[in-house]
Amino acid sequence: MLPTPIVKDLDFDKVYEPSEDSFYLLDCFEIEKDFLVKKFTNQVPIITEIGTGSGIITTFLIQNILQDAIYITTDINPTACVSAKATLLHNCKKKAHLVDSTQMDLTSSIRNKTIDVLVFNPPYVPASEVPNLPTNDTDNKWLDLALLGGEDGMIITWKVLNNLENILSDEGVAYILFCARNKPVQVAEIMRQKGWEVTTIINKKAGWEVLSILRFNKH
Ligand SMILES: C[S@@+](CC[C@H](N)C(=O)[O-])C[C@H]1O[C@@H](n2cnc3c(N)ncnc32)[C@H](O)[C@@H]1O
Repeated sequence: MLPTPIVKDLDFDKVYEPSEDSFYLLDCFEIEKDFLVKKFTNQVPIITEIGTGSGIITTFLIQNILQDAIYITTDINPTACVSAKATLLHNCKKKAHLVDSTQMDLTSSIRNKTIDVLVFNPPYVPASEVPNLPTNDTDNKWLDLALLGGEDGMIITWKVLNNLENILSDEGVAYILFCARNKPVQVAEIMRQKGWEVTTIINKKAGWEVLSILRFNKH
């Protein structure tokens, strides 16, 4: 079993605390390690985690899965961007310079068709709406933004899926987490009809919820 990064001294009133969904993504990459290493043997891949939160997943990737890579992490929450860098520095100081932790909406400031590996544990809880962006750093709504995904919990995730063709490089691959209420079976079918290969890497109970992690790629 690969070591789990230590997340220390973070402000969990403002930043999503690693939970079962985060840990299932670590399991997912342990399963996918051989696939990813083989896929990117002859190149230095660009890896982007959207909504990096505490930074636990990106830190795990750089420590254990893809060490020769360039990482651009994004989060809409500025405190999360600081947390991600702190987690990296705490766990793997010598690799931290390979990670650019940036504040942005999804991948909006990253050039199209450059991301080779995309990772997203999105705000997936169904809610009447996606919360507005808090107006300042001290607003206590940042955690709502980490969790609530509007109708079917899918408003933010569909923004990414509908733009996946532009986000990913030609050889790119995306790992996205869903809960059962997001209807992942139907989502997979819609994406297959659009030409994506969709593979379920994880499908596991988490309390009363079932979480799935799907892999999307074209090649
Ligand atoms: C469920 S949390 C996951 C955090 C972390 N990746 C983990 O797995 O522990 C979702 C994250 O997405 C971020 N987020 C929400 N909407 C976003 C958006 N439009 N663009 C970038 N990040 C966003 C939140 O701030 C939060 O950090």
